[in-house]
Amino acid sequence: MDFKIAVIKGDGVGPEIIDEGIKVLKKIGEVYNHKFEFRYALGGGDAIDKMGTPLPEESLDICRDSQAVLLGAVGGPKWDNVNGDIRPEKGLLRLREELGLFANLRPVNVYESIKEISPLKIDRLKSKVDFVVVRELTGGIYFGERGTSIIDGVSEAYDVEKYTEKEIRRIGKMALDIASRRRKKLISVDKANVLESSRLWRSIIDDLSKEYKDVEVRHMYVDNAAMQLIKDPSQFDVILTNNIFGDIISDEASMITGSIGMLPSASLRNDNFGMYEPIHGSAPDIAGKGIVNPIATILSASMLLRHSLNLNRESDSIDKAVQEVLIKGYRTEDIYEGYGIKVSTKEMGDLISNHIK
Ligand code: IPM
Ligand code: MG
Repeated sequence: MDFKIAVIKGDGVGPEIIDEGIKVLKKIGEVYNHKFEFRYALGGGDAIDKMGTPLPEESLDICRDSQAVLLGAVGGPKWDNVNGDIRPEKGLLRLREELGLFANLRPVNVYESIKEISPLKIDRLKSKVDFVVVRELTGGIYFGERGTSIIDGVSEAYDVEKYTEKEIRRIGKMALDIASRRRKKLISVDKANVLESSRLWRSIIDDLSKEYKDVEVRHMYVDNAAMQLIKDPSQFDVILTNNIFGDIISDEASMITGSIGMLPSASLRNDNFGMYEPIHGSAPDIAGKGIVNPIATILSASMLLRHSLNLNRESDSIDKAVQEVLIKGYRTEDIYEGYGIKVSTKEMGDLISNHIK
C-alpha cells in the first residue's frame, strides 16, 4: 500500500534521529511491500531561520494532506531570545492545536535488558513497569488566556488554566477506552484539593466512568502521583491528566526507564491521523555528535504504523527489533553503563533496521 507521511526534522538532534526513524520505516517498506512517501516540511527554529516563522503555512498544508506526521524535536538556545509568539515551541503548539491533536499518549516501559540503568533501586522494579500517560494536549494553561502588564511600576503576568466539559469528556473517553484494552486500571491525576478546573475534571471523569464498569477508576493528586511514580511505578496502568501535569509527570516517568531517549509519543484525535515524536527535546548540547539515542524516534515511527496506518504486524516487528538489539547488548551513550557494546546513532539505526523481519 502507499502511504503519505509528513516529516519535520526540526532542530538540534532532530535531523539525526529522524534519519534513523526513516531508515527503519524504509526497511519496513521493503520487507512488507509498502510504499512510504516522505514529505519533508520545515518547523521550529529551522523554519524561523529560513522562513521567519516556526510553522509556515505550507508545512501545515503538507501535514494536513498526509496520513501522519513524524517529528524530531524543536527549540534551542539560539532562539531563546526571540519573541514568544515566534519561538520554536510555538510552532509545535500550533501544530497540535491546528491539527486538533487533543490526546497525547506516552507509553513507559522498563526494558528487562536495560533495567540496571534506571536510577531506581532494582527492587522497586521487581514487578513489571508498563503504563501509559494520556495527556490532554490542546487545552488548559498552555492555550488559556495570558497576559503581562505593569501596574504602578510593578510587572505582573498570568496564564489561565481553563477546561470545558467537552474537552475533559473527549480525553477522558480516550483514556478509558485505552484502559479497557489494557489492564483496566485508570488513575486520573489532578489537584482537586485546590483548583476549580480540577474539580470539574474529577466530576466529569466520575460521570464517564459509569459507562466503563470494567475499568477501575481512581483519582490521585498530582503531588502524590509524582511521589507514587518513584515509590511504586508498577501500580500504574493508564495515567490520565491535563496538559501541564502531563508534561511534568511524563518527563519524570521517563527517567524510571533510565533514559528519556527511550520514550516515544503519539498525539492523536478521533480519526486515524496523528503526529509522532520522541518525548525528549532537541538536546543542543549533543547535537551533531552522532551519539543521540534514536530509539525514542524509532518507537514513535512504530506507533505511527500502529495508530495511523493500521499496520500492527509491522509495528510489532519494530518493537521486537528494538528489544533484540538491546538484549544483544548494543547501547548508545545515554544507556551505556560500562558494559555491552557502545554504538553511535547511525549504528543503532542500522542494527534495528537489520533486525526487522
Ligand atoms: C513536550 C515538550 C513541549 C510541551 C514543549 C517543547 C512545548 O516539553 O512535548 O513535552 O511542553 O508540551
Ligand atoms: Mg515536556
